[in-house]
Amino acid sequence: MYPPNRHAAPETGPPIPGLIGTSQAMEAVYQLTRKVARTNASVLLMGETGSGKEVIATAIHRLSNRASGPFVRVNCGALSESLLESELFGHVRGAFTGAVNNRTGRFEAAHTGTIFLDEINSTSLFLQVKLLRVLQEREFERVGDTATIRVDTRIVAASNRNLYDEVESERFREDLYWRLNVVPIVIPPLRMRREDVPALIAHFLKIYSERNEKHVVHIQPQAIEALQDYHWPGNVRELQNYVERAVTMADGDEFTIDLLPENVLGKKERRGGKIRGVDLDTLVYEVVQQGVNQLGTDEHHLHEKIVNRVEKELIVQVMQICNSVQTKAAGRLGINRNTLRSKLVEYNLEEKEEKADE
Ligand SMILES: Nc1ncnc2c1ncn2[C@@H]1O[C@H](COP(=O)(O)OP(=O)(O)O)[C@@H](O)[C@H]1O
Ligand SMILES: [Mg+2]
Repeated sequence: MYPPNRHAAPETGPPIPGLIGTSQAMEAVYQLTRKVARTNASVLLMGETGSGKEVIATAIHRLSNRASGPFVRVNCGALSESLLESELFGHVRGAFTGAVNNRTGRFEAAHTGTIFLDEINSTSLFLQVKLLRVLQEREFERVGDTATIRVDTRIVAASNRNLYDEVESERFREDLYWRLNVVPIVIPPLRMRREDVPALIAHFLKIYSERNEKHVVHIQPQAIEALQDYHWPGNVRELQNYVERAVTMADGDEFTIDLLPENVLGKKERRGGKIRGVDLDTLVYEVVQQGVNQLGTDEHHLHEKIVNRVEKELIVQVMQICNSVQTKAAGRLGINRNTLRSKLVEYNLEEKEEKADE
């Protein structure tokens, strides 16, 4: 998973045009976006697919003093190494078979503006060396050329993986990582900001109603509820698709629950059984975030209240799985039997001791 934003601050500012959602998590993102837009620093955007990396990248550009310059997006994940190399840096005629003309690269095209290197995690180690040089020196050569070109461009990169994990597994150069990571912005997945779902629905309803010359202005509460409960592996983009689909299929002026696809309605991912598609870090992040929200930021016993509550719940559930047999439960938990016993006492769970042993 992604680390939380380092500079997350509660202070809010004017909304960023086109960006929907007022959750605390997104306010922190907006604040970083505004702050970094005023600088020339390289920015690394991390977030799951569809979470809004590209919209934040364009916002950084629009809010910067480069706004009148070009915004150039390159999807580094969509091209092979050699094509990407000449796409980024350009080439001269005869540089390789098929290079019949000189070609200007995207870095040159982004001069005085911003270049958005999307899916930077999928660049090869070879290209990462060249990118490092652009980041450090703001210069490069076209493929097949010796003349050095200098550009003045702001670099915004995006990764749909935690880039530091890629560094640790040696798929991404650490020096490039640190160069890019001057200001990291982590965009939280939609399931961690469910409170933004209704506003996003309304936003896309309006867009697709207009686009399809329809007038879907109402939404059934059950539909909102189902959407708010869903775990959103495809994030905002997925929500956008469902709203578009619903508007297209709606007969009247209401977004009703039957316009939602099976997978949204089907399984209640979050109640009982295995939770699909969500990793442990995400779950923990969510539990802690919501716990802190609920208790309030002026609470002085956060550790006790949250850590203890989680531990108690863990013990309750493992004891259930183990039919209240303490030696078994201690084994599953990987803790000492006496430790378990004292925790059962501490949490007032000792009535379950009856069945204490085999
Ligand atoms: N906060 C937001 N407000 C409005 N639309 C959003 C927001 N976040 C994402 N979107 C929309 O969702 C879709 C996916 O966003 P995008 O920036 O392309 O995600 P990513 O680059 O992370 O895959 C786009 O159509 C975008 O306009
Ligand atoms: Mg994208």
